[in-house]
Amino acid sequence: MWPSANLMLLVLAAFPTWSAESSHLDARQSWTSSYWSQEFSKYGCRPVIFIFARATIEPGNMGNTVGPRISNALKAAFGVTYVATEGVDYLSLPDTNFFPGGAPPFGVGLMQVLLSAAAKCPNSKIVASGYSQGAALTHRAIQGLSDPVKDRIAGVVTFGDTQTWQDGGQIRGFDANKTLIICNIGDLVCIGTLYVMPVHLDYVKWVPTAVAWLIQKLLYADEINPWWDGTFSLPPPPGSPRTDLQLANTDDCVVPPTRQ
Ligand SMILES: *[C@@H]1O[C@H](CO)[C@@H](O)[C@H](O)[C@H]1NC(C)=O
Repeated sequence: MWPSANLMLLVLAAFPTWSAESSHLDARQSWTSSYWSQEFSKYGCRPVIFIFARATIEPGNMGNTVGPRISNALKAAFGVTYVATEGVDYLSLPDTNFFPGGAPPFGVGLMQVLLSAAAKCPNSKIVASGYSQGAALTHRAIQGLSDPVKDRIAGVVTFGDTQTWQDGGQIRGFDANKTLIICNIGDLVCIGTLYVMPVHLDYVKWVPTAVAWLIQKLLYADEINPWWDGTFSLPPPPGSPRTDLQLANTDDCVVPPTRQ
């Protein structure tokens, strides 16, 4: 099924308004007060970069379920200023599930832009996640990335993933060891349909599992390509000065000094 011409007009008409509404949340985001996060585009490279694609009709660019909670948990683990969270600001309407591949091309392109930009940060560890339609977006975005960019992604978790069955329980062309697809038993979107049952709305309980897995992947990525001053650790060393984090308002990523 293809989206109607009316939907396409709606997409074009709605986008400028939506992007103008973006607000910024710095440090630890409170999901009760806002559903937006644009810390990577605002602050540039940080040791951990987390790119998230929300589910259909979730608010803001982060949604109000798994996205903000993963972000908060990563910040609790690594330190608030060690994590740059960015939501993919795409139009997640019910109808946009019906684009080929399960997500609208504009959103796929935007997630690719974010991931490619993150990959230009020399030692940052990149993780990504998506929920429902956002999971489909994540499949399509990562699948289309170049190998060097894919290699820079430490781990990807999807929830209630509408492309689970279509893509054979993986993200095509991406390392299965860096992929975790979380589907509740009985979630029919994971077996090739778009029937939304109550279990499809019950993924917050998996956030601790997802975060523990992402942390494992982040630390593993740091073993291979260590953060430049050796401070990438869990938890962050108490009282460490974090002088490497003064990266505000950089369009291009700041290249850190050579490791001593
Ligand atoms: C898979 O990832 C884990 C870290 O999470 C690592 O220890 C292991 O060596 C990886 N396996 C392969 C085959 O790359």
